[in-house]
Amino acid sequence: MTEYTYKVTAAGRINIIGEHIDYCGGKVMPAALSLKNTVYVRPNGTNKINLSWTTLEDRVTLDIDKLESYRNLKYGNYQAGAALMWQKAGHNVIGCDMLQDCTVPFGSGLSSSAAIEVSTIAALATLAGEQINHVEIALAAQKAEREYAGVNCGIMDQYASACGKQDFVMLLDCNSVTCEYLPLRLGDYALVIINCNKPHNLVDSKYNERREEVEQALRILQTALPVSCLAEVTEQQFEKYGSLLHGKVYDRCKHVVEECARVNKAAIAMKNGDIKTLGTLLNASHKSLKELYEVTGKELDALAAAAQSHPACVGSRMTGAGFGGCTVSLVRKDGVEQFKQAVAKEYKQKIGYDCKMYDAEIADGITVTKL
Ligand code: GLA
Repeated sequence: MTEYTYKVTAAGRINIIGEHIDYCGGKVMPAALSLKNTVYVRPNGTNKINLSWTTLEDRVTLDIDKLESYRNLKYGNYQAGAALMWQKAGHNVIGCDMLQDCTVPFGSGLSSSAAIEVSTIAALATLAGEQINHVEIALAAQKAEREYAGVNCGIMDQYASACGKQDFVMLLDCNSVTCEYLPLRLGDYALVIINCNKPHNLVDSKYNERREEVEQALRILQTALPVSCLAEVTEQQFEKYGSLLHGKVYDRCKHVVEECARVNKAAIAMKNGDIKTLGTLLNASHKSLKELYEVTGKELDALAAAAQSHPACVGSRMTGAGFGGCTVSLVRKDGVEQFKQAVAKEYKQKIGYDCKMYDAEIADGITVTKL
């Protein structure tokens, strides 16, 4: 790849705990993965961005003056959206050739789209000679996902993709968009990521619907409580005022309030190296996402149940938006191989097709290398 000027990467992410609360101003605990999107980039002296991929035959050319017009592309729409939002934020977008190489599996719930958006912007910023501002890039990438791709997402994925650090999880406060880095000290345990192989598509999923439901819950609770987001509602307050909410809106809000409390407990457990408590919290999170938030589905439920019932596993849950994609499990290191075999077998028996295991480390977010 020496014919390119820079190699710029941004990570996929795993979320340990804190699901469907980033857009409620909650704290979440993601980490960046060694599965990532790499952009090899060089200036080309035109006003076009030429896109190519290591894994696709397709070639796409984006006119820098018409970045608005590529929303319906099969490939290249995330790059177009990212470039457009960066341009709209007042940055210089320079004509270039970009070769993209994505190792984050698409539709896996590991944020391939965030990795593509963040790395594309970081590549454009690098070419323009700008210092990398990780948070600004994450925010522009989130805008691309919301306003260009049409998923009304929170900030978790793009932030983790940009700001992750090797061997650290982030305790990300989505209200202030700041994070505390906690060392990932799992002792005798390892994180195992498994894809249920039911792809998810957030544009068509219930994701935006869930957001509307929790916004409705907030509006109702605000008639009784001085809160600016649902994450500010304590469990005690919810006990007192929850009866203002009804049906599904009550359930969704209960999940948010309890998941926020679980993240606080998980942060303490992580700091204390108390992996068993962390595991129990993961199980409780999955149950809540299944029963109250209703974003799991039979495939993720089967996968989490198979994992949770294995003796080497202390906790397992779906990770990301749900509706398909991956689980994350905490598994004793000396039992990982047996765990994987047992889960794979049980899952296939129940669902009828294979799940997929990934080998991934906790890695850095954006990286830039001069070639
Ligand atoms: C998706 C979104 C995130 C977050 C998760 C659920 O990954 O992009 O902002 O809402 O779902 O926690």
